[in-house]
Amino acid sequence: MYSTKIVGAGHYVPENVVTNHDLEEMMDTSDAWIQERTGIVERRWVPRGSNDTPSVMGTKAARMAIEKAGLTPDDIDFIVFATLSPDYYFPGPGVQVQHQLGVKTIPALDVRNQCSGFVYGLSVADQFIKTGMYKNVLLIGSELHSLGLDKTPRGRGVSVIFGDGAGAVVLQRCEEEGKGVLTTHLHSQGEFAKELALLGPNTTHWVDEIIAEADPNDTSYYPYMNGNFVFKHAVTRFQEVIHEALQTTNMQASDIDLLIPHQANLRISQYIQQKMGLSNDQVFNNIQKYGNTTAASIPIALSEAMEGGKVNEGDLLCLAAFGSGFTWGSALIRM
Ligand code: COA
Repeated sequence: MYSTKIVGAGHYVPENVVTNHDLEEMMDTSDAWIQERTGIVERRWVPRGSNDTPSVMGTKAARMAIEKAGLTPDDIDFIVFATLSPDYYFPGPGVQVQHQLGVKTIPALDVRNQCSGFVYGLSVADQFIKTGMYKNVLLIGSELHSLGLDKTPRGRGVSVIFGDGAGAVVLQRCEEEGKGVLTTHLHSQGEFAKELALLGPNTTHWVDEIIAEADPNDTSYYPYMNGNFVFKHAVTRFQEVIHEALQTTNMQASDIDLLIPHQANLRISQYIQQKMGLSNDQVFNNIQKYGNTTAASIPIALSEAMEGGKVNEGDLLCLAAFGSGFTWGSALIRM
């Protein structure tokens, strides 16, 4: 059977840097609070009126990934696009990437698994490659959070965390023994769907009702997060799902050359690092610069790690994510 190799990675973040000090002026928060609780120093926010939609940012990241892979867009057989912030309610952004890349009518699939979207997308793409159906799959994670955040003091517990950006990888059929994606593990627990969610508008509370009500106190259009509750579940599930992958492949935490956790909160990554006995060199974090970019966080981090020479041929890479749903997942990849 074939396996799936990462042959190129790319990322794109909007130029506009928003520091914690900038947020101090918008909402009742402080640089010290944000850094202490999350590790975030700054993030990128798309300015209103910019052309950088999630699909456009995703296409920019994709072009870089395709170039790094030494391919052209015409070599891509299948597009998988993970996001919680699509350009439109429907259709999803995958088809826009197909159009923006100017490629033939290849299929485009949209993945709606929030912070776990990239790991879910990787697992889906891996199945298509393993069966021999597709050779080159483009996997994108892209988010535009900032225009939908509550930037008043009311939203400070959520809005300081999230950033915009996109990351992408090209996944390719591999015939080398022991190389590529070794295992992926996915989970969900819909019982906690509303603990981290954006509930409105939805199909039972649609635009006509919302316009009629015009209620300025309705916060259902902004993301809601039960921060403490999410934090507690995240630290447990991250560890569980990484151990599940290690157990399946008969490996130890010490075998991991680089863990790229979804960049949810630096404190979560540090907690996992400490519990698993990993060194600083074994864990990659860049949340300090970008905040939590949801489905884009792992591919942005992966692209930066690869560019920075932190991922080498033969290395064991571990990806892990947890987020809204709740959903969580992990992957082990021999580069
Ligand atoms: N600035 C200043 N104060 C803030 C604030 C902000 N941006 N947001 C909340 N506060 C205040 C609260 O009002 C509260 O004040 P009180 O004690 O007077 O009531 C206090 O800080 C503590 O709030 P709390 O929500 O308990 O903080 P926390 O330590 O749980 O940190 C998060 C909040 C969001 C940073 C943290 O819960 C978290 O990271 N959770 C996980 C988030 C996550 O991983 N999400 C993505 C999963 S994909």
